[in-house]
Amino acid sequence: MRDLRDRVICIVGASSGIGRATALACAQAGMNVAVAARRIDLLESLAREIESHGRVALPVACDVQFDADVSALIERCLEHFGRLDAVLANSGYGHQGCVVDLTDESLRRIFEVNFFGTVRVAREAVRAFRASGRGHLMITSSCLSRFTLPYFGAYSATKAAQTQVARSLRLELQREGIDVSVIHPITTMTEFHDASADVSGIRRRGVPRHAPRLFVQPPERVARAIVRCLRRPRAEVWTSHITRLVAGAMVAFPRFHDFCLRKELALQAAYLDVESISGKAEVAAEGAAG
Ligand SMILES: NC(=O)c1ccc[n+]([C@@H]2O[C@H](COP(=O)([O-])OP(=O)(O)OC[C@H]3O[C@@H](n4cnc5c(N)ncnc54)[C@H](OP(=O)(O)O)[C@@H]3O)[C@@H](O)[C@H]2O)c1
Repeated sequence: MRDLRDRVICIVGASSGIGRATALACAQAGMNVAVAARRIDLLESLAREIESHGRVALPVACDVQFDADVSALIERCLEHFGRLDAVLANSGYGHQGCVVDLTDESLRRIFEVNFFGTVRVAREAVRAFRASGRGHLMITSSCLSRFTLPYFGAYSATKAAQTQVARSLRLELQREGIDVSVIHPITTMTEFHDASADVSGIRRRGVPRHAPRLFVQPPERVARAIVRCLRRPRAEVWTSHITRLVAGAMVAFPRFHDFCLRKELALQAAYLDVESISGKAEVAAEGAAG
């Protein structure tokens, strides 16, 4: 068991949801926390909350699409705290649509943030860890790295890519004293779902439909699992054992995958205006999202 007191973590994608909850859970565990994302106002209020737990916080504006932002972030962490023990690469968003109907531009953008953004954070984190001879890199992937949902093909592809990179890094960096863990949250109640429907230009009908309660979690639950993993590093963190088992079965038996997900498609159709999940709606939505 590692003592987390006075250790330093940098959480990239900390302005909301899982990243925000993890920042607070780390502070409660005694860690000092650098919080990064694009929305600096949210990071500054989060930093004040962290400081109210008697810990040191550093809010840093960072867009993971830019190498310079990510390298400046890690440099600032080292300057400010004099050490860096762990980094969580957590930034990400969803883009729903049938992959063949999405524009190349939107496909490149989701890979730029979810996959290349993760690689940028990993590269700079590992550079710092190598200099100190230790460190823990954590990557927020998803249960959707193992199976997918209708209209989540592009997103799932980015999550599968993250997971495989994490697995190979874990083996490659082990001898250097660097731990690598990948986190597989299930449906988590955050801004993610509204943001991904908005960026995809999807019209919704009535109240949001989420997975059955058994498969829905608050971000605090994911945060607690991440803190446990910081204390005792593990290769993969699943926040739902049943999903882990079902995911394994879906990988082994593709017809089981399709059977389960065909039902999901019908349920989704009742809530989403499936007609609006098309490349045409998406272009307008991306313009509006900037
Ligand atoms: N919610 C779920 O059901 C679920 C399930 C499995 C996995 N996940 C994964 O969990 C991670 C966190 O998602 P969440 O559910 O907590 O959603 P969220 O509340 O929307 O948080 C996403 C975070 O990513 C940041 N981000 C997005 N684009 C960025 C960019 N270009 N540069 C830097 N930061 C960026 C956002 O901050 P700014 O907008 O301020 O930049 C925000 O802090 C994501 O990787 C997501 O794929 C979520």
